[in-house]
Amino acid sequence: MEIVITETPEIAAILAADIFEHALAAVEAPVLGLATGSTPLATYRELIRRHVECGLSFVNARAFLLDEYVGLPRDHPEAYRRFIAREFTDHIDLPATGLHSPDGAADAITRAANDYEREIVDAGGVDVQILGIGSDGHIGFNEPSSSLGSRTRLTTLTSRTRIDNARFFDDDLDQVPRHSLTQGIGTILEARHIVLLAFGESKARPLAHAVEGPITAMVPASALQLHPHVTVLVDEAAATKLSNADYYRETFEHKPHWQTF
Ligand code: PGA
Repeated sequence: MEIVITETPEIAAILAADIFEHALAAVEAPVLGLATGSTPLATYRELIRRHVECGLSFVNARAFLLDEYVGLPRDHPEAYRRFIAREFTDHIDLPATGLHSPDGAADAITRAANDYEREIVDAGGVDVQILGIGSDGHIGFNEPSSSLGSRTRLTTLTSRTRIDNARFFDDDLDQVPRHSLTQGIGTILEARHIVLLAFGESKARPLAHAVEGPITAMVPASALQLHPHVTVLVDEAAATKLSNADYYRETFEHKPHWQTF
């Protein structure tokens, strides 16, 4: 795991955008793994800026969303497919057919989950997956106690997650769905490069547990310790509970110039 502590979330977003840009240049038909929530928004804004101002192109790319609410109509503004289109993919040249997301409105949810797994495999797997972390340590909507080998499936959101997400639903908890269709932890771990972003004080505890604690189903993000290529980009506020922070700073300061992310 490479852990980089940046002064601000904006600097972390620039580094995350660099990683995406590198994948777009290095891979013929790049497959991008996208996340929703507030954390990746600055990265998406930076990628949109590079598209508009510098011609960064996504025309050969495909994108796969991590998760989707179950129980919202497909055209609900907070459905994650709508969210990612509004915040990111509508503003770049990703082909309309290139955006994939789990179908949380499907009648046959288990079949939709299996179909999504197959779509990812058929695309050749995810090259770069961006991730946030929940205040309860979740990745995607894999809540504490999720199997570390889990695949795309229906999950039940914790009350912590529903409270955290109520801000997207007029602060009305009753409007927040109880279920999701999410890539499993085992699915996420198959991405070739994972970029975990964490900003702000509320992420300090789950981040420290994920990065420095034991690998446990009670902290789904701790499963990332098993992955050979993870970049963790955090701001100072989210880094406050990392016991090894000095070492991470020293490592980044002395990173060999030839070594990329
Ligand atoms: P946030 O959510 O980016 O809105 O904090 C992160 C997550 O739940 O994975």
